[in-house]
Amino acid sequence: MVEHQPKHRFDPARARSLLDPQRRLIIDPLALVQEMGISTGMRVVDLGCGAGFFTPALLEAVGTTGLVAALELQQPVVELLQENWGGHPGLDIIVSDLLDTGLAATEWDAVFIAFTLHEVPVKAALAEVRRILRPNGLLAILDWGHMQSCPERELGQKAGPPEEERLLPAVLRYHLVEAGWQETAYGERLGGCHYWINARHQP
Ligand SMILES: C[S@@+](CC[C@H](N)C(=O)[O-])C[C@H]1O[C@@H](n2cnc3c(N)ncnc32)[C@H](O)[C@@H]1O
Repeated sequence: MVEHQPKHRFDPARARSLLDPQRRLIIDPLALVQEMGISTGMRVVDLGCGAGFFTPALLEAVGTTGLVAALELQQPVVELLQENWGGHPGLDIIVSDLLDTGLAATEWDAVFIAFTLHEVPVKAALAEVRRILRPNGLLAILDWGHMQSCPERELGQKAGPPEEERLLPAVLRYHLVEAGWQETAYGERLGGCHYWINARHQP
């Protein structure tokens, strides 16, 4: 299996497109994060949070007893999250590289990473996730599946990156196994255009 090579980083000039209401016609963020296992009281990191499409859903899912750290590398993108959700008592906004988060080790119950893992070196990202997650904590990954499953008509401008930029499930599974993760759940949306994988790393 060939390792995934990131070829593209999200253009910050398109930050507002991450909050396009059309996305909600395709994805119900709260239903999805709950299906992926985010629940009351959890301490969750939203890695590559962008403008915060999923962050409010994570806040709602963890409730007042939980905590969300939303981490994003590109300042112009995270400013939108700051505008809308800055000051929320359960939210820490962090501008940092997800490969070197600066977060404390083994403090987090879950790491959620949506449509971002394909933009970074997967091996290094998984190592940082493992460092910050508590033993047996939840890694919840959502990303783009095969292009052929993504109907332009339904997705409008949200057809996603070209196939060669995607981190397809088979390649992600290769990286997970190589790094000692056990897959614990799998799901799809739009017939596999979007897929999610949960994994845990035994101590
Ligand atoms: C396609 S966007 C998805 C954003 C958000 N998760 C969502 O679904 O709306 C990918 C995001 O990952 C961020 N990103 C890419 N590389 C990163 C890195 N090394 N560290 C932190 N964030 C990164 C990009 O700036 C961008 O905001």
